[in-house]
Amino acid sequence: MSNKPAPEDRVPLTARKVSFAWEGTPLHWVPGDPFTTHTINVLHLLLPAGERWFVHVYKQVLPYIRDERLRADVIGFIGQEATHAQAHDEVLPHLREQGLDPTPYTAQVDWFFERLLGDRALPPGRARRWWLMERVALIAAIEHYTAFLGNWVLNAGELDRRGADPTMLDLLRWHGAEEVEHRSVAFDLFTHVDGGYRRRARTWATAFAALVFLWQRGTRFFMANDPTLVDGRASLREFYRRGRQGTLPATGDLLRSVPRYLSRAYHPSQEGSTEQAVAYLASSPAALAALAALAPEEGAR
Ligand SMILES: [Fe+2]
Ligand SMILES: [Fe+2]
Repeated sequence: MSNKPAPEDRVPLTARKVSFAWEGTPLHWVPGDPFTTHTINVLHLLLPAGERWFVHVYKQVLPYIRDERLRADVIGFIGQEATHAQAHDEVLPHLREQGLDPTPYTAQVDWFFERLLGDRALPPGRARRWWLMERVALIAAIEHYTAFLGNWVLNAGELDRRGADPTMLDLLRWHGAEEVEHRSVAFDLFTHVDGGYRRRARTWATAFAALVFLWQRGTRFFMANDPTLVDGRASLREFYRRGRQGTLPATGDLLRSVPRYLSRAYHPSQEGSTEQAVAYLASSPAALAALAALAPEEGAR
């Protein structure tokens, strides 16, 4: 195996406009399964701050890119991530209307990305570059998991079988498909500007620990504050069970993804299917609704 991308897997990246209407989405959008619902709902809390942080870091790294195609990919990636952040943000007022105010948790997430992982008062030079490269490597590790989750949700037929809300599924699959589509950008950028193996391994450990910590905290927060649950709890056992049932990723699949990222032969193009992602994006109801809304304006020109 080599860690070069398959050339046919490269597609020009554009931020697709989307439009979601949340009025009809129930609180437990996986019927009768608040644990699955809230575990996935954590995405709406983590992603807006996380993806805006990606954009903030990538704008700083643009001057270090010496390859025009990679630069175009990074600019496309920035556009897609900014759109994702906004789409997940728009779910939050709907959660508040249903009695779930996520502000105490999002305040912690904002602190994490803006303060802990934000710009530090460093003099220009080696220290500043070190901190930028560290964050570029962290993003590559996080994107290993966004692509993993994107690939998972595109294939999570069990959510359809359980009657999950179609609007929420479309948000997750539109986002997941774009994560699969742009899954190589963060790793290619890291390889281009640094690519050190020790840095890759170290930042993977940090990213993995932070994701597990923030995710379980977010699920506990939602379960504890869900107004319809008397004693809402979250546990690893529940997560494992849902993984076996197929409504959440399987724990074994998650664990097997670890050595893949740490392999010296790793390249994200080996994970997921661009063809499947692009096919979903061509049929996503939210993307089609946004196109239909644009059509009258275009016709008037
Ligand atoms: Fe994203
Ligand atoms: Fe992404």
